[in-house]
Amino acid sequence: MIKICCIGAGYVGGPTMTMIARKCPDIRVDVADINAERIAAWKSDKLPVFEPGLDEIVREVRGKNLFFTTDVDSAISDADIIFISVNTPTKTYGYGAGSASDLSYVESCARRIADSADGNKFRVIVEKSTMPVRTAEVIRKIFTSRGRNFQILSNPEFLAEGTAMKDLENPDRILIGGDDSCEEGRRAIDALVSIYSRWIPKEKIITTNLWSSELSKLTANAFLAQRISSINSISALCEATGADVDEVALAIGSDSRIGSKFLKSSIGFGGSCFKKDLLNLIYLCDHFGLPQVAQYWRGVVEMNDFQKSRFCANVVESMFRNIKGKRLAIFGFAFKEDTNDTRESPAIDICKLLLSERAKLAFYDPKVSPGQICSDLGIDEKDSRVEFCKSACESAKGADAIIVLTHWKEFRELDYSEIIKQMNKPAWIFDGRNCLDHRLLIELGFLVRGIGKGNLS
Ligand code: NAD
Ligand code: UGA
Repeated sequence: MIKICCIGAGYVGGPTMTMIARKCPDIRVDVADINAERIAAWKSDKLPVFEPGLDEIVREVRGKNLFFTTDVDSAISDADIIFISVNTPTKTYGYGAGSASDLSYVESCARRIADSADGNKFRVIVEKSTMPVRTAEVIRKIFTSRGRNFQILSNPEFLAEGTAMKDLENPDRILIGGDDSCEEGRRAIDALVSIYSRWIPKEKIITTNLWSSELSKLTANAFLAQRISSINSISALCEATGADVDEVALAIGSDSRIGSKFLKSSIGFGGSCFKKDLLNLIYLCDHFGLPQVAQYWRGVVEMNDFQKSRFCANVVESMFRNIKGKRLAIFGFAFKEDTNDTRESPAIDICKLLLSERAKLAFYDPKVSPGQICSDLGIDEKDSRVEFCKSACESAKGADAIIVLTHWKEFRELDYSEIIKQMNKPAWIFDGRNCLDHRLLIELGFLVRGIGKGNLS
């Protein structure tokens, strides 16, 4: 029986291993993490990660061939394939702070693998985390210095939160980088291909050299983020000229060379990875003596910051340059719909700016807890400037404005004709996701502002 171990039970490790366990009932999968609370949650009815479809599959395979544990060393010791799926955040200290990736978690895994897995067995170590290009070299040096000749593969993950289970079941591609110049390297690549090919057509499995694979992951995220910054830059021009950004997106996206996906203008991209991976790419360009290339990508991050501050300026400007003491209903706090993740959510910067203007914020997010919101904003739950509501309608009661920050489906289905009755007049809606029916809202009496829509009312 093949045994797989995954170090890191986060948003990637948990769902990815759950899918492998489901598709490969004959393989034992152990997911190990040093965070005991997280592991306890994976073993409970309330999983630490909210993903549509995840609960059902975990229930189906947990305890059969999928196991969660804090005993990292035992999980490593007899595994044939070991995935490293730990966090690779932006470094916050020392050399490269604010830009380079903090590889301390990856390095500690590599050392632990070298110590816990004896060298007698053929073992494949898989980089599942997003790594700076040439990280495999670092891992290899740690192994060889400790007498281990394990094979290293790069197998970056492309799932998006909120659609993780669908993405894992039916990915656009699987990317495997390895060293096919030697017999053992080819054997490692074949071993991983044979796992994925149980449910993914062979033509979707791309094999490359290690460095191409590592760099492709950073590049994919940079390209996706760049599209959002590009359309957001145009949204500012739309507001100045009377064009409508959704119409422009439709017109340009119909060109098959451009394509229609990732052209939804918004308050800016969030999530744990786009900014981190862009910063890492920028760091690498500077490091390799390519300041012009670094500057090109820096623009994508700068445009994202500009979009968030522009949105807040619009709120303040529209509400007569004064939001002090006004109640603002905050619809959504997660960085996107269908997730409880708030990492780098644009809502964080936006709410901080609104609080600095002394507004009162009434929050409602279907999946994010008050504790999480307070920790992200650096405030106390008892702070008199904030309130946490059980529904969107409750947060809008007595509010001067509704600020839509996350694209949750339920916000599109509310009865705004009832909501406006409970609000202060004039009643504003700032739709930071362009997800509501603006024409209808104007008919109901709302003053509506979207992104890239000019002054609607
Ligand atoms: P996460 O923070 O949710 O999970 C990482 C886990 O690793 C944590 O639970 C942490 O306790 C654990 N960990 C850290 N060091 C450890 C160690 N030495 N031993 C055991 N466990 C350890 O992170 P994530 O969102 O799952 O991301 C993981 C990687 O995947 C990152 O490199 C990220 O860039 C990449 N990625 C993330 C996504 C996403 O949607 N979140 C998608 C694609 C790729
Ligand atoms: C993104 C990528 O889509 C995944 O392929 C990648 O694996 C992952 O990052 C990662 O490496 O972590 P994710 O951040 O989960 O996935 O979600 P996205 O759907 O990409 O959304 C990112 C942000 O961009 C969200 O804040 C979303 O609201 C915003 N967005 C997305 C827009 O503003 N407009 C769009 O058209 C699309």
